[in-house]
Amino acid sequence: MTITYFGHSALQIETNGTTLLVDPFITGNKHVQGVVTAGELSPDVLLLTHAHGDHWGDTPSIIERAAPLVVADFEITSYLGRAHEYENVHPMNTGGAWDFEWGRVVRTYARHSSSFLDGTYGGLAGGFLLELEGKTIYNSGDTCAFAEMAWLGEDYEIDLAFLPIGDDFTMGPEEAVRCVEMLGPKQTVPVHYDTFPYIEVDISRFTDAMEEAGFSARVMAPGETLTL
Ligand code: NI
Ligand code: MN
Repeated sequence: MTITYFGHSALQIETNGTTLLVDPFITGNKHVQGVVTAGELSPDVLLLTHAHGDHWGDTPSIIERAAPLVVADFEITSYLGRAHEYENVHPMNTGGAWDFEWGRVVRTYARHSSSFLDGTYGGLAGGFLLELEGKTIYNSGDTCAFAEMAWLGEDYEIDLAFLPIGDDFTMGPEEAVRCVEMLGPKQTVPVHYDTFPYIEVDISRFTDAMEEAGFSARVMAPGETLTL
């Protein structure tokens, strides 16, 4: 399978002929200017960690054009029905898992908030643990470290983890290393940094701390693709 990073928290995963797009913040995402436009993305499945604009992003235009199955928490899928008359959804909530024909999704806890720009409640913010082609990918969503990450580390052999490091709205680099200690992923990709002034960090704070702790950091450039 291939995984392409679009900067901030946006990812695309191609697995067994199915295209999954996670947190499609493309328009206004400075990392991906000149790399891709929202109009070029036609996912089969759209996964949303929470309702904040830097994750919900281009969801309205993508669902209108590509009509993907939207996998998100119950409040977001309900909102899609009410506000966009969009019914191709699969609602989940924290701790639940579902076997789709293309893989298994676990909706994981995140310590964060979730609301739409107009103030509508977006349910609980979350993350996703994806089991695809015998590999396990953990995308924490916006969060700080929480102790139950150790259970994910015990229960799953995580091949690849995506963790926010930008600080202010989520944890910063050092706390992300604490997550890696609990999760034990083979590789970790830092996300959610340098997009806005509030989340500007020196990436070496993360890579140095990871190296010091004996872990493998995989910094991905926007548009870069990784094969798993
Ligand atoms: Ni957020
Ligand atoms: Mn965010």
